[in-house]
Amino acid sequence: MMYLFVLGRNPELSVAEIVSYIEKEGNSVKMHSKNRNSVLVEVEKPLKKNIIKDLGGTISIGEIIISGNPEEIITSLERKEIYKGACNKFNYVIWNFCNEDFYWKISDYLKKRFRKEGLKATEKKLAGVISLQSGEKVPNLSSSLVGEEYFLFSGEENESPLYFGRIKERCDYEEIEKRDMGKPVRREMLSISPRLAKIMINLSMVKKNETLLDPFCGIGVILNEALIQGITVIGIDRDEEAINGARKNLEWSNFSKNNYKLINGDSSKIKNLKADVIVTEPDFGEALRKIPSKEKAEKMILGFENIIIKVLNNLKEGISGRIVFTSPLIKTFNGRISCNSDKISKRTGLRVIGGFPLQEFRKKQLVGREIFVLEK
Ligand SMILES: C[S@@+](CC[C@H](N)C(=O)[O-])C[C@H]1O[C@@H](n2cnc3c(N)ncnc32)[C@H](O)[C@@H]1O
Repeated sequence: MMYLFVLGRNPELSVAEIVSYIEKEGNSVKMHSKNRNSVLVEVEKPLKKNIIKDLGGTISIGEIIISGNPEEIITSLERKEIYKGACNKFNYVIWNFCNEDFYWKISDYLKKRFRKEGLKATEKKLAGVISLQSGEKVPNLSSSLVGEEYFLFSGEENESPLYFGRIKERCDYEEIEKRDMGKPVRREMLSISPRLAKIMINLSMVKKNETLLDPFCGIGVILNEALIQGITVIGIDRDEEAINGARKNLEWSNFSKNNYKLINGDSSKIKNLKADVIVTEPDFGEALRKIPSKEKAEKMILGFENIIIKVLNNLKEGISGRIVFTSPLIKTFNGRISCNSDKISKRTGLRVIGGFPLQEFRKKQLVGREIFVLEK
């Protein structure tokens, strides 16, 4: 089975998330091939329906209808039902992850085909824009009012074959935003976004009914996203106000109290905790208002490394699976400065998983993030 994933602003991180998610579901990824902010994934077993709601780095998911060169695709499409809707008037877009020439052939064919079927179909352009972490700008949907979404994909080198398919699942940003904005306690400056929280939870490969520990839980964004996926959680924060905020937020979301435990304490000291995974965003140190000197940035990084090493050494005994955390990526006049992953690995005895840490930042951000995934 093959699927196309249209990815968010950090495609590399999104691909890592997708692969971890599919594998923790007991499925396996046979191959994947990327083109800008899209990835074609071949899996052993069909994916469950509506997995888009669990993924933080995916905009939409599509199923392949046909592959081949443009002529073969058109010949095969002649024998297939393309538009499955009931209304004879609709609009559609074509996500194009292949060269312009292929795109125009297929676009032209669809127009003629829909006209022949007596349908009043209008192709709309993808008028929105996403700025990728690399700085590249790529098209996006500008409205959720589009009826049908098709796509064309070919690998990075535009090598054949070409894939044509239909988008089946689309991320509901409005719903995620509404849920987040409605929480009784919010701390915009300190909290992680629900999108990044989902990505990190998926990178941990934690399964439904397993336990996730967030030792720097703040007001509980990661806990909230994990509980939505049916994961049991433990949150620790040394700040009583933050723990009370987390409690209010989890109560507001109506999760069963049996599924979460909140502890007001110091994660470098609390003993005998057991969980399957750790997913967390520790304190990054003081909030910067201007680009710091290299010395100041290095001091902040050192402070962070000492805290994370201390906490991991205290908790690792009780953790059976992966440990996922963010660390600061500080902009200086000499480039961005980040933690020393060899040092963290050596001092904790934990292995940094291949390909990590991955960077997550915005161009103007003074302090971005690196995402670490470790295991015993
Ligand atoms: C960046 S915030 C976490 C934000 C959190 N992800 C959220 O969504 O609210 C870091 C939190 O770690 C807590 N903290 C710092 N050091 C700690 C320690 N040693 N043990 C427990 N909590 C700690 C702080 O009180 C703060 O609330």
